[in-house]
Amino acid sequence: MRQMVLVGFLQAQNCTTLASAWRHPDAHSDFTTAAYYQRIGQVLEAGKFQLAFFDDRLAMPDIYGGNPAEVVANGVRVVKIDPVAAMMAMGFGTRYLGLGSTASTTYYEPFDVARRFQTVDHMLGGRAAWNVVTSVNDAEAQNMGRIEHMEHDARYDRADEFMEIVHSCWDGWEDGALVVDKKSGLFADPGKVHRLEYQGKYLKSSGTFTVPRSPQGHPVVIQAGSSNRGKTFSARWAETVFVAYEDLEAGKRQYTDLKAEVARLGRDPDRLSVNTIAYPVVAETKAEAEDKMALIDSLYKEVDGLSLLSEALNYDFKKKSLDEAFSAEELEGMSGMQAMRDRVMRIAGRNPTVRDFLEVTRRGRPREAGVGSGKEVADRLEQWFTDGACDGFVVAGTHMPGTFEDFVRFVTPELQRRGLFRSDYTGATLRENLGLPVPKRGSWRLA
Ligand SMILES: Cc1cc2nc3c(=O)[nH]c(=O)nc-3n(C[C@H](O)[C@H](O)[C@H](O)COP(=O)(O)O)c2cc1C
Repeated sequence: MRQMVLVGFLQAQNCTTLASAWRHPDAHSDFTTAAYYQRIGQVLEAGKFQLAFFDDRLAMPDIYGGNPAEVVANGVRVVKIDPVAAMMAMGFGTRYLGLGSTASTTYYEPFDVARRFQTVDHMLGGRAAWNVVTSVNDAEAQNMGRIEHMEHDARYDRADEFMEIVHSCWDGWEDGALVVDKKSGLFADPGKVHRLEYQGKYLKSSGTFTVPRSPQGHPVVIQAGSSNRGKTFSARWAETVFVAYEDLEAGKRQYTDLKAEVARLGRDPDRLSVNTIAYPVVAETKAEAEDKMALIDSLYKEVDGLSLLSEALNYDFKKKSLDEAFSAEELEGMSGMQAMRDRVMRIAGRNPTVRDFLEVTRRGRPREAGVGSGKEVADRLEQWFTDGACDGFVVAGTHMPGTFEDFVRFVTPELQRRGLFRSDYTGATLRENLGLPVPKRGSWRLA
């Protein structure tokens, strides 16, 4: 029987995806310590989650109002420690849980990313994954010494080149290249270590990679592009996909389209898991879950929504009053997550206002939260999974570690009883637990 993938959506930050998470009375506040991440990892591992993944952005959302004062005062995702370090801490406190982290193809160098993630895969015994992002806004560009963020489609063209270099690095050492024979003095077989020469439009790299092949061959590649260009990129490169489907019908359609595109490229669509975001708010009974949800809703502040919209759309939402419509030119100037902007325009059916953006995207609030008992939340996940809208879920938290504790206590046993979710880990590596093969050298090249 087909079983679902469960991924914990994590932040190496003071909040979850909900900016208000730090205000929750049960939220732990030691988010700069290893203990915080290990505690969360251990909960996820007790719940047999395949993967815990850290998102990232290379700036705080201080585009809003053009200065950091308001977001800092309100704690709107302003602390972002290095997610790879947090992932390592979590990895050393767990045994089977896969660990993923985000790195940008727009602001890092491919050699650096290839080396870092391949090293993590060694250190964690084959449990590493890399979430490939192209980044979204000018605040990130400016932290990284540029003036403005690259144009949307061009950054994906650059990302294609980046992926070719990273995969070529990972192919640098063949299996069995390391000999380490003290007697003969042969350290490694030079016939099995290959030099890379790459010259693209945006990137070039030449040299010999310095990290031997890792337990998984290479880390699992995750991607979450949602624009047309982003989806093409996902279909080309991802081994695991994250999505945020609007509703069940849209999910079914887009899931089918993505799998068809993967097949068209000659890749095996059954090997690629597509996981959509879920925001469960769960308790013993529906009434208790509703009380929890009311508390979570009460923690929201408008600055959360407005600053996170400014961040995602690379546009200062403080320039407008709540009910003022954006001009066509202003909408065109939103260069961040364009799929988000396009969806608001479509749903509003006219030039949207700031309020339309807040209401449609529910930025800063749990979008489409599944509120209920373990059975009710499991019903909903089961429907999405069996109706062909996804292969699993990226479970997002309203506060840490409470959301995952509740999920593991109330939902996981229910999914296991129904045979929809594993009762234990099936292997030592993330690939084994996701049913992914160890990639052969060069298998990333399209036929
Ligand atoms: C579950 C999930 C996690 C994501 N994590 C990140 C992240 O860590 N950093 C980031 O910049 N974007 C992240 N994104 C956004 C996507 O990578 C992508 O930029 C966004 O969906 C817009 O699509 P586009 O780039 O194709 O326009 C995430 C999206 C989803 C659904």
